[in-house]
Amino acid sequence: MKPIRVGLVGLGTVGTGTFEVLRRNQADIRRRAGRGIEITLIAARNVARAQSIVGDAIPVVPDWQSVVDSPDIDIVVELIGGYETSKELVLRAIANGKHVVTANKALLALHGNEIFQAAQDKGVMVAFEAAVAGGIPIIKALREGLTANRIEAIAGIINGTTNFILSEMREKGLDFATVLRQAQELGYAEADPTFDIEGVDAAHKATIMSAIAFGIPVQFEKAYVEGISKLQAKDIRYAEQLGYRIKLLGITKRAVVNGTEGIELRVHPTLIPCKRLIANVEGAMNAVLVNADAVGASMYYGRGAGGEPTASAVIADLVDITRLATADPESRVPHLAFQPNQMTDVQI
Ligand code: HSE
Repeated sequence: MKPIRVGLVGLGTVGTGTFEVLRRNQADIRRRAGRGIEITLIAARNVARAQSIVGDAIPVVPDWQSVVDSPDIDIVVELIGGYETSKELVLRAIANGKHVVTANKALLALHGNEIFQAAQDKGVMVAFEAAVAGGIPIIKALREGLTANRIEAIAGIINGTTNFILSEMREKGLDFATVLRQAQELGYAEADPTFDIEGVDAAHKATIMSAIAFGIPVQFEKAYVEGISKLQAKDIRYAEQLGYRIKLLGITKRAVVNGTEGIELRVHPTLIPCKRLIANVEGAMNAVLVNADAVGASMYYGRGAGGEPTASAVIADLVDITRLATADPESRVPHLAFQPNQMTDVQI
């Protein structure tokens, strides 16, 4: 069978990681997907730089439209971030009948309902494992591994930058600005790091998990969002003296408020007893704790940011789509398996 043809839009940290890992593990990936997965066209702002990374075998163009409109592309991988151009790009790819893989949590948290509906109507797939917790396969765990369960609650360290800042401030006594700069140099931080430190990035990810876990539409606008910018080194020290560690958690859970069932969705610094496993997740690592009725508590731990960890999730999606694109469309996992009558208001 001919390889599936992938158009990559964006060759930054994650795009480059995707190219490298696909090339390095090509034979195994082909075997697992049932056919080859080939990047056949790339769009990148700096064509010369991109061409120097990927060599001459793959053409690089400066505009995303050439990828999205190409009749020779089966899957578009969107790795440009932001939520304006990326929305136009993803909707146009869907309208053109392409499957889409995206790592863009902001895009899905804000426009996911419209995007999933468009994909459903067109009969194409949108996959987004890389959008939440980088290399940890948490979307797969929630949709597939835990599919037998009624999920009760999710609490996660889902922003590597803020966890790195909190860890370094505590362990090395470094100040906030110095550690933030390091996180930016290491490629963890968002283009606009206020998204990290004010909790917005974690809220984007929590919004997506909430939708998947509880069968509700994405409702970012209803999230309570508080970051770590007001924390001082002494808060971290005092917490430690009392036997607690401060972590920025993204929390979504079932709740009953004034007799009405709803879903909580919130991000804020949280005091966690030092002996708890999640309190000991340090550096840029992520961890997601899920409470569900049949399995009980389970925790998923790994790298939530960075080129190759996020590429690992992007490629997992490429493999999934490659397998499913050749299978019966009825066997595909729906984007959001919600029924309108199951929708609930988010309550804090
Ligand atoms: N800025 C994000 C983080 C990148 O620090 O977790 C991965 O989504």
